[in-house]
Amino acid sequence: MKRVDVIVLGAGAAGMFAAIEAGRRGRRVLVVDHAAAAGEKIRISGGGRCNFTNTGFGVERFLGKNPRFALSALRRFTAQDFIARVDAAGIAWHEKTLGQLFCDGSAKQIVDMLLGDMARRGVELWLGCTLGAVRQAAGGGFEVETGRGVVGAASVIVATGGKSIPKMGATGYGYQVAAAFGLPVTETRPALVPLTFAEQELDWMRPLAGVAVQGRVSRGKTGFDEALLFTHRGLSGPAVLQISSYWREGEAIRVDLAPGLDVAAFLRAEKQAAGRAALRTALGKLLPEKLARLIEAQAGATGGPMAEVGRAVLDRVAAQVSGWELRPVGSEGYRTAEVTLGGVDTEALDGRTMEAKGVPGLYFVGEVVDVTGWLGGYNFQWAWSSGWVAGQVA
Ligand code: FDA
Repeated sequence: MKRVDVIVLGAGAAGMFAAIEAGRRGRRVLVVDHAAAAGEKIRISGGGRCNFTNTGFGVERFLGKNPRFALSALRRFTAQDFIARVDAAGIAWHEKTLGQLFCDGSAKQIVDMLLGDMARRGVELWLGCTLGAVRQAAGGGFEVETGRGVVGAASVIVATGGKSIPKMGATGYGYQVAAAFGLPVTETRPALVPLTFAEQELDWMRPLAGVAVQGRVSRGKTGFDEALLFTHRGLSGPAVLQISSYWREGEAIRVDLAPGLDVAAFLRAEKQAAGRAALRTALGKLLPEKLARLIEAQAGATGGPMAEVGRAVLDRVAAQVSGWELRPVGSEGYRTAEVTLGGVDTEALDGRTMEAKGVPGLYFVGEVVDVTGWLGGYNFQWAWSSGWVAGQVA
């Protein structure tokens, strides 16, 4: 039987980072993944440029049963620490918006950096290798069934991610390992995912497919000022992906298409200044033309001069522009979700090390844990930070 000090299950962001750190300490490390290549989600992330971290920090940027759980790891290995690694590897990067850092070149540079660091630390990598049961060995440590036979290890780091994008190899494997050791797993659901609408809504939405607009999308007190995008199935774009992590079935979301603007006052002023112009022309100063036309039609305005549009109609239009209530019926699900909300219950883990309470030597890192970040690099930072802390002790 092959024996190592640390076996890492999953060669994604969190697993590779944990392996590098354990290897740095002189541990014999083996990483096993059923995919044909390591770090596939890194490779496709950020539109191929990998939004590898975010300079922002705050407990409100993470969701889960106990968002504070993430803070210990995030403070010990910070965005600045990861940036230092990227700089040392000579990878050029830029800030796009809202603290989001992307590679200037390709996401593959991040994968290559991690693979290079693993090789330098002597980490062994088995790709295209299945994983089976994990059990405690009679003489201490663990035994892990793999497609290449049983592997004995003093420590096991579970880094098999969540359920998002099964086509890319995502499985619920990590949750099964947790359950096999009696560790609780919170309810999982797709997050950072486009929202879908019922047919009657899609009837008017479909013609808008491809239209993007800046706005504020909110659910209760939580809101995001970013772009939203109409699609053939409903709504997408950063603001909608963000709110999808908070939205629940049956609820409405609120879309403000002109945040900070008194739209009623704006429309009245337009009517006075250019009464011969159509309402959609005034709206077109705030919104893409197709959307302006739709809102004009939905308000029952005839398309004639604004001077003929009554105050009640203007107020109705203003209310729609500033507080459009839309009721999604679902989401596109794990097929397109960027992350999985929920996972291994943080109550069962030590936040300083990611070790399972009551199962010494068993660690869970990255997305498999019930810690989910906002869009914008927070999920990779969680993968680096949680992988790093486990790698210091496993
Ligand atoms: P990850 O999913 O990366 O790795 C898990 C590994 O385990 C995979 O290699 C998988 O093959 C393997 N595995 C799973 N089940 C297995 C089994 N049964 N047997 C063997 N191996 C198994 N985040 C961000 O911060 N910035 C960004 O730009 C993006 N962009 C982005 C785009 C898209 C399209 C997606 C889907 C996601 C993102 N994300 C993101 C989210 C980010 O990719 C995600 O949070 C991290 O990849 C999670 O890292 P992990 O290592 O935990 O899991």
